[in-house]
Amino acid sequence: MNAPNTLSRLGKNAGTPAISDLMRLAFSRPELISLAAGFVDQNSLPVASAESAWRSIMADTQSAKSALQYGTTQGDPVLRYALAQRLAEESPNFHGDAGTLAEQVMITTGSQQLLYLVAEALVDPGDIVITEAPTYFVFLDLLAARGAEVIGIPIDEGGMCLKSLEQCLEKLEAEGRLGKVKMIYSVSEHSNPSGLSLAEDRRGPLVQLAKRFSTHQKIYVLDDAAYRGLAFDGNEPASLWSHDRSGEFVIHARTFSKTFSPGIKLGYGVLPEDLLQTVLALKGHHDFGSANLMQRLILQVIEAGQYNLQIERLRAIYKEKAETVVQTMEETMGDLRPSVRWTTPKGGLYVWLTVPDHIKTSRNGEFFAACLDEGVFYVPGEYCFPHAVEGGERATHQMRICYGVPARDKIREGVRRLAKVVRRFIG
Ligand SMILES: Cc1ncc(COP(=O)(O)O)c(C=O)c1O
Repeated sequence: MNAPNTLSRLGKNAGTPAISDLMRLAFSRPELISLAAGFVDQNSLPVASAESAWRSIMADTQSAKSALQYGTTQGDPVLRYALAQRLAEESPNFHGDAGTLAEQVMITTGSQQLLYLVAEALVDPGDIVITEAPTYFVFLDLLAARGAEVIGIPIDEGGMCLKSLEQCLEKLEAEGRLGKVKMIYSVSEHSNPSGLSLAEDRRGPLVQLAKRFSTHQKIYVLDDAAYRGLAFDGNEPASLWSHDRSGEFVIHARTFSKTFSPGIKLGYGVLPEDLLQTVLALKGHHDFGSANLMQRLILQVIEAGQYNLQIERLRAIYKEKAETVVQTMEETMGDLRPSVRWTTPKGGLYVWLTVPDHIKTSRNGEFFAACLDEGVFYVPGEYCFPHAVEGGERATHQMRICYGVPARDKIREGVRRLAKVVRRFIG
């Protein structure tokens, strides 16, 4: 019998993530230089500190047994307290106490799980989510599967343009659709994909806009700070989350994937009180708690001082790699400015490259094919745009360049190959 399966609406909408095909490409053609994969630097992975944390957990039978047992849905209270303390220390404008804050912290299976749970808790089909344009495309896929309407807000060097955000919210109000807006999503630190952070002087005002327009229902701000900590010079402004003095509007999403190891797949969030119990209940449905052993491991790493050391190492590694990208772009395409331009990241893993708009960077376009022939590829920029962009359109002439994985000589060679194709297409 060949009866069709009957998928749920969510199952039908799930589709294949845009990135799967690029990952297949990278695995099937290892000779290509991938400036696409958003993976971390392979050589930086902290084998020694993970090993010593592991040994110290296993050295004591009682601690080993409790680490090997189930934990709680919200996560290890000692780890949550340690994270709350770190959050308090890095937030000069936070005046609460770490013990209370720890009650609002939850541990998740990567920050991706928190993004999913928040969308699950808030977004019904037809609801509106506002994002930066460009934004983290995996979140766009997730929102599409939930049937959300996504509106993108253009960015400049300081991240999301608040004037456009305000206009967008005013327009939705005039159309009587403000009641559909559930959240504003910002990849606030060294963004994936643009490499740019939300400017310090936009952080407070963004929270204020969310509050001002929360007339029908609360409009949350989802502060995806996945790359926080990775500023090359170690200086980062107070987080977007810390500008929400009342703690009622901003959901803060963090991860150890970028600052320690994606293989342990742990993240954490700080949630407003009125959302926390719902999100915890949903997490209960997913997995009733992230891997307890991994939580003990990261706690041990933090307590041993290894986590801070690892972040310092990563800053130096990614600084060099980012400089290599930018310098090579300068050498090979500097004379093509301003029709060819790129962002200069101050942290994180990404550079956003713009070419003249007649050069279509799509996956199925001639430019992408020519890059493959040269032995290099990237993430097409259009994956990172929602269908609707406030006051503009979905750009089709941009690329996300990730310098996480390749070594510096490969980065140099990859950018040279890319520049060669760009020049050929400019004519
Ligand atoms: C902006 C952003 N948010 C969230 C994630 C999710 O990462 P993880 O689930 O490993 O924490 C990523 C991963 O690349 C990301 O780039």
